[in-house]
Amino acid sequence: MNKSPVVTIDGPSGAGKGTIAFLLAEKLGWPILDSGAIYRVLGLAAQRQAVDFNDISSLSQLASSLPLVFSPNSQSGEVDVLLDGDNVSRDIRTDEAGQAASKVAVIPEVRSALLQRQRDFQQEPGLIADGRDMGTVVFPEANAKIFLTASAEKRAERRYNQLKEKGINASLSALLESIRERDERDSNRTVAPLVPADGALVVDSSLYSIDEVFSQVYEYIAKNLTLS
Ligand code: DC
Repeated sequence: MNKSPVVTIDGPSGAGKGTIAFLLAEKLGWPILDSGAIYRVLGLAAQRQAVDFNDISSLSQLASSLPLVFSPNSQSGEVDVLLDGDNVSRDIRTDEAGQAASKVAVIPEVRSALLQRQRDFQQEPGLIADGRDMGTVVFPEANAKIFLTASAEKRAERRYNQLKEKGINASLSALLESIRERDERDSNRTVAPLVPADGALVVDSSLYSIDEVFSQVYEYIAKNLTLS
């Protein structure tokens, strides 16, 4: 069995998991598993191949053979996401791709087809796993589990500002509705719903700055991993 350490960060979309995972990765020198990207690529692949979101058998087959590669880009310092060799890093970040991901993610057969693939990311010196069920299902033995949340309003506002900075026009009320819809689906599905893992450190990021969230999280991890 793989004994290398794992830190899990779960929570709803827009709670700041990606930012905290990135800061932790820098501090610890560990890679990140962005499990949401896997579901997003699957949603995109299904749309591109015109697979119906109700066609469980085709979707689980697609999940088992998904031609997905995470490829570190030394120029940008980011990780490119390749679907069948095609760089889809930007295509998977749209709100539509998030909704597609959330729809394919309710299917138990899809989730089990992706389970081992996610576990295979466990490696030395350690892994930061970001998602919805990292601490509950994928890495139940993780050394430290974090559940990062924030009010739906705060998350919509952050997303709105991010888009505005990129010069993209968006409607705050439409973003809020989309976030609520995704929360509802992710939290109420029968398999691996979005819930804090037992014993997880729960942090509401609406109440703190990024630096404050990071210090709380790092202090907790350091205690659990006996880091200095
Ligand atoms: O973290 P994200 O917004 O990129 O995730 C997109 C969707 O993928 C999310 O709404 C639900 C699904 N997802 C999941 O079901 N389990 C995960 N571990 C990660 C994401």
